Amino acid sequence: MDIQSLQKKISEELTNASTIQSVSELELTYLGRNGAINELLKGIKNLSLEEKKTAGKNINSFKTFIAAEIKKAKEILYSREDRTLGVDATLPPSADESGSLHPITIAVNEITEIFNKIGFIRMSYPEVDWEYYAFETLNMPVTHAARDDFETTFLSGSADKKMGKMVLTPHTSNGQVREMERLKSTPPVRMINIGKCYRPNWDATHTPMFHQFEGLCVDKEITISNLKGTLDYFVRSYFGENTEVRLRPHHFQFTEPSFEVDITCTVCKGTALAPLATSQVARQAKCKICKSGWLELGGTGMVHPNVLKAGGIDPSLYSGWAFGFGIERVNMMKYGIDDIRNYYTGDIRFLNLF
Ligand code: FA5
Repeated sequence: MDIQSLQKKISEELTNASTIQSVSELELTYLGRNGAINELLKGIKNLSLEEKKTAGKNINSFKTFIAAEIKKAKEILYSREDRTLGVDATLPPSADESGSLHPITIAVNEITEIFNKIGFIRMSYPEVDWEYYAFETLNMPVTHAARDDFETTFLSGSADKKMGKMVLTPHTSNGQVREMERLKSTPPVRMINIGKCYRPNWDATHTPMFHQFEGLCVDKEITISNLKGTLDYFVRSYFGENTEVRLRPHHFQFTEPSFEVDITCTVCKGTALAPLATSQVARQAKCKICKSGWLELGGTGMVHPNVLKAGGIDPSLYSGWAFGFGIERVNMMKYGIDDIRNYYTGDIRFLNLF
């Protein structure tokens, strides 16, 4: 076939080619090692020297022209909005990574919803607060161990006469008197304060920054029965229907009486025995998570009269309860996680579990 006929044929075929793949096939057919243009070049070997020169020049410029046409055709197809024309539709789809909420954010949302259902309002009080709210109004004297700078991070700067120094809040209890003040010392108070707390600790069960959720309820005739009922409701909603609550006597400056709250272990279901053991001997082994059938949730108690007074509420008319639990810790109990540091190393394999 001569150059003119070949050019006409290629132009027609390029016009009809609607995918990058079909243009690539034409490229191979005409410009490939055994393609039509190389065949033309091979055909000049029997021509005279003078004819060879002219024919070689013509075929080479034709080749350059065709290569440019093919490039142009490909560019047009690539620039089309529907890029799928150039994609092999028979390949399996690629699994795109999708983002998700951090497990602590998920837990905060769940806890908020559980308490919203029984009329508790979510609040967020300062993470950097005055000693006045973090300790003073909570009946914690200057000599209290928690006010030592081994336990609490104090900000530099001079102390205010009434408010004291500023601290990174070591607990969400700083929201108690702030909430009473927000409500102009007029119960009912039903608050769930969720925030970040700071303590200088770092091991498998402690991080220097962690989250707590603080419940506070103040009204007329509020008793320990109300507290126990609310805790039962919370643990059954969060951990599952069969979870039991136990209160153990304890001491906090801002509650009287005070308790530690335990729940039945979410792994051994309160039996204290290794749950997955198969042999008779192993069945006698203790549960590695709790060793006793119980897991410690956090602190609670009836609001101390001095705290109600600091919030402008008359303790002879009103009573209340409060609790403060760690969010990482309740999440660890729920999912059987044995190292709290997993939440903050950013390891995608851990985060993908939620
Ligand atoms: C308190 O912080 C009290 N304010 C709780 C309270 C509130 C008692 C209201 C009574 C009334 P405690 O220091 O035990 O208590 O801390 C409560 C929970 O916070 C602990 O049970 C634990 O779950 C969590 N927690 C404490 N320190 C850390 C830490 N460094 N890392 C992770 N979680 C922690």
